Amino acid sequence: MFPASRPRRLRRTPALRELTRETHLRPEALVYPLFVRHGKGVKTEIASMPGQYHFSPDTIVAEAGAALEDGVRAVLLFGLPDAKDAEGSEAWSDDGAVQVAVRSLKKAFPDLLVITDVCLCEYTSHGHCGVIEKGGVVNDATLPLLARAAVSHARAGADLVAPSDMMDGRVAAIREALDEENFSDTAILSYAAKYASAFYGPFREAAGSTPQFGDRRAYQMDPANVEEAMREIALDIDEGADLVMVKPALAYLDVIRRAKDAFPVPIAAYNVSGEYAMLEAAAARGWLDRERAILETLTSIRRAGASIILTYHAREAARLLR
Ligand code: PBG
Repeated sequence: MFPASRPRRLRRTPALRELTRETHLRPEALVYPLFVRHGKGVKTEIASMPGQYHFSPDTIVAEAGAALEDGVRAVLLFGLPDAKDAEGSEAWSDDGAVQVAVRSLKKAFPDLLVITDVCLCEYTSHGHCGVIEKGGVVNDATLPLLARAAVSHARAGADLVAPSDMMDGRVAAIREALDEENFSDTAILSYAAKYASAFYGPFREAAGSTPQFGDRRAYQMDPANVEEAMREIALDIDEGADLVMVKPALAYLDVIRRAKDAFPVPIAAYNVSGEYAMLEAAAARGWLDRERAILETLTSIRRAGASIILTYHAREAARLLR
């Protein structure tokens, strides 16, 4: 009790504050998402995500090299196809932008961790994450397509594949297909608790993956649910997920904490495009101290229990942490 107890004593100097700090943000925990399209010399800024770009397989190598210099050792790739079709067939093409980029990145930087997003929505003409029948996304017919995409990423050299589609059973289907093709060392980072969120807005503009009809609520999770997230995570771990993700991060910090307390696997959290865009927009108007807001945001995600954070601020945060 006061006056014997004075918590301010431990806040008096930077050294005391650092001595007693509970949460540490490290560049090694950050994953940098990147968008890749076909072509050469492409570096086009994404309107809805200022400071983020579309790259081609050559320029993405330079960007990843710069990220490595900043201290970021892992990237997550999203692909933009030249042509879309009903099945999303470029998702598993060995000549897809992602597959080409993975090969270039692993050749240039063998130690860079390359993670690939496995989904069909960027590749399908209708913008949904699976096969459409009778106006809806059908689950089981989608699984072999996702597995094919994951295998093509592994063949290109991806270290981890990250299914983000939210079909039931996709982790098992992908694990089985990878093992059959002798990719038993390729790990699965599953977007296990992925919510149907408004915060993906800027990404859909960046990836050209807005659904052409309806929305994703019949496969992505209801934002109101947390018990269901525990069930999704448990299923994915049973099916062979090596790491699991909660997405988005900021409106779901409680879900991250529950996952961390319940499951003995590394928990990843995705600080998504809308969270990035909000911070950037406010900072651009001078309403927020940008650098402090970035570090405070990422620290909160760590404090909630995420060991891995996927963030468009990865490079900048790594530089700030030096
Ligand atoms: C693809 C996918 C999405 C994101 C990652 N993978 C969009 C979606 O589900 O609509 C969102 C990433 C972000 O907003 O930063 N299924």
